[in-house]
Amino acid sequence: MVKIYSKGEISKIAESGKILAEVLNIIMQEAKIGASLKYLDGLAFKLIKEAGAEPAFLGYKPDGAQKPYGATICASINDVIVHGFPGDYKLKNGDILKIDCGARYQGFYSDSAITIGIGNISKEAELLIKTTKNALEEAINIAIVGNHLEDIGFTINKIVKKAGFKIVKGLVGHGIGLKLHEEPIIYNFGKKGQGLELKAGMVLAIEPMVSSGSDNIIQKSDESWATADKSLSAHFEHTVAITENRTEILTK
Ligand code: MF3
Ligand code: CO
Repeated sequence: MVKIYSKGEISKIAESGKILAEVLNIIMQEAKIGASLKYLDGLAFKLIKEAGAEPAFLGYKPDGAQKPYGATICASINDVIVHGFPGDYKLKNGDILKIDCGARYQGFYSDSAITIGIGNISKEAELLIKTTKNALEEAINIAIVGNHLEDIGFTINKIVKKAGFKIVKGLVGHGIGLKLHEEPIIYNFGKKGQGLELKAGMVLAIEPMVSSGSDNIIQKSDESWATADKSLSAHFEHTVAITENRTEILTK
């Protein structure tokens, strides 16, 4: 069952999302050459706590993982797509960094991810990041009342393919609200007009994950997911609420 949230509940998720967006913004400003992933994680933990919220990923066991996650952010570098663990690694010139983070505020969850280049990155990396960001924006634009769930994936895949990139296999977006992961599963590909009809009150975490090479993925020893051929990947995610009038980005 896909939950329909009331206006009051959506405003709570929006408060959670606002805290998360501000934290992500600061983390991205701190993500400079020489900064360690561990430092970024510690900072995110502190900022979320100071805002009166809880880190949603800390202690959470995602599907396909053996153990609960032990950090506030996922920090995934270059070929790593998601669930990269923020350890001692220090950011280098040319890296592509993905920060994914979740917050829980008064029982309501928000989830968001951003990709940035560190220092000077290749033209291809730039296009990959731009395309993935654009795919999310366009998907949000069509995620409106009366359209269908698969319109989201259709739009994402169309934009990604056109730029010569690929949606990675096996990783998806999701509903969110009272839990970090709820129904429905949101594939990053699909058929126009298929899937359940989007209704006011649905809250969705839409998250294109894109490879510049192979769309096959492998799980590494730290339980992160990377492209099988080590090609670069990008990831953007927003938590959005479908409402009668428009679709609101809650993590902006
Ligand atoms: N950010 C992931 C998602 O978007 C969830 C990460 S859970 C963790 O669905 F525990 F691995 F951090
Ligand atoms: Co998510």
